[in-house]
Amino acid sequence: MSNVLVTGGCGFIGSNFIRSWLKSYPKDKIINLDKLTYAGHISSLRDVEKDKNYKFVKGDICDSKLVAKVVNEVETVVHFAAESHVDRSVVGPAVFVKTNVLGTQVLLDAAVKYKVKHFHHISTDEVFGALPLSSGEKFRENTNYDPRSPYSASKAASDHLVRAYFHTFNLPTTITNCANNYGPYHDPEKLFPRMITDLIDGSPVKIYGDGKYVRDWLHVEDHIRAIDLVIKKGKIGETYLVGSTIKEINNLAVARKLIKLFGKSEKEYIKFVKDRPGHDRRYAIDWSKLARLGWKPKYDLDTGLNETVEWYRQNEWWWRLLKARAEKLYEKTGQK
Ligand code: NAD
Ligand code: DAU
Repeated sequence: MSNVLVTGGCGFIGSNFIRSWLKSYPKDKIINLDKLTYAGHISSLRDVEKDKNYKFVKGDICDSKLVAKVVNEVETVVHFAAESHVDRSVVGPAVFVKTNVLGTQVLLDAAVKYKVKHFHHISTDEVFGALPLSSGEKFRENTNYDPRSPYSASKAASDHLVRAYFHTFNLPTTITNCANNYGPYHDPEKLFPRMITDLIDGSPVKIYGDGKYVRDWLHVEDHIRAIDLVIKKGKIGETYLVGSTIKEINNLAVARKLIKLFGKSEKEYIKFVKDRPGHDRRYAIDWSKLARLGWKPKYDLDTGLNETVEWYRQNEWWWRLLKARAEKLYEKTGQK
């Protein structure tokens, strides 16, 4: 039995992780520390909020007093909390540095002070920068860091801090750097849920620039199985990359798949909008190190997309208000 602190558990991946962990480890207790920013939704954990093994604490990872109190109660920290939306980091970088860099350092200090047994840090493939189209190149654990957005720069800094605390203070850490996730409880500001909810509403999907941007899409459940495995079996001090088995696919091709799934016509349902500044062309991941630990993705893209579309059809209660807010943001950025 273990007490686990999850930071950012009301976000997309954190909420899926908590639901899954409570099911897999019914003797463990989870504390979820979340500030409930625009990206944190208490509704994403409505089905587990009465679970006796689950406790929600509203608060900021930058608040060292509060962090000390919750870290003192646990053996394991799983750190998801972050400002995570690249487009928002273009509009206002300051909060990305505050939460992603300072917040991580505050957590690490508390983890050292209270001698936590394991600190697992959730990070992103975006720290490695961008790969050229059709180069066949992939990111690996030893690829040089080359972040190109305020978001990825702040996540890169947080990764460096985690590694530094392992070397300097012997904090037992592990890191996973994952590709783009999709699945249930994904905020409609992000590509997949934005396209799906647009199509449900009978609106065209919005494609940035020429749409020839490649992401390594992974179902959130596969990501969670990877985190679980690294927490249980990963080597302390190590980093593991997490990616998919899908054949390379660009945003335009994903949009076409979805439009077809909705039985609509491509001509009417694709709208090209202003590109993201500094838009990374391509991400691709070599996850053979994690495969050697015994992991591989279960979902193929078609199954994952079908299930995700069905989830959004069935759960309008969850996304309807978020959709309105997301589209207001895109009105401001000129990407509507
Ligand atoms: P999200 O934006 O959906 O959720 C972030 C959560 O953190 C929210 O609940 C928010 O309220 C909370 N939070 C933000 N600032 C906080 C603060 N100062 N104190 C406490 N809580 C705070 O993010 P996500 O998509 O679930 O991503 C989770 C983690 O995984 C992030 O670290 C992200 O960098 C990483 N990641 C995401 C993806 C992806 O595709 N979404 C891929 C790889 C890695
Ligand atoms: O690679 C992992 C990263 O994936 C995570 O670290 C980030 O937290 C997560 O937000 C995600 O970042 P992206 O910028 O890749 O995701 P996003 O959903 O914002 O965009 C995916 C791609 O789709 C990207 O090429 C931009 C494009 N896009 C996005 C939106 C919202 C569009 O073409 N149209 C859109 O409406």
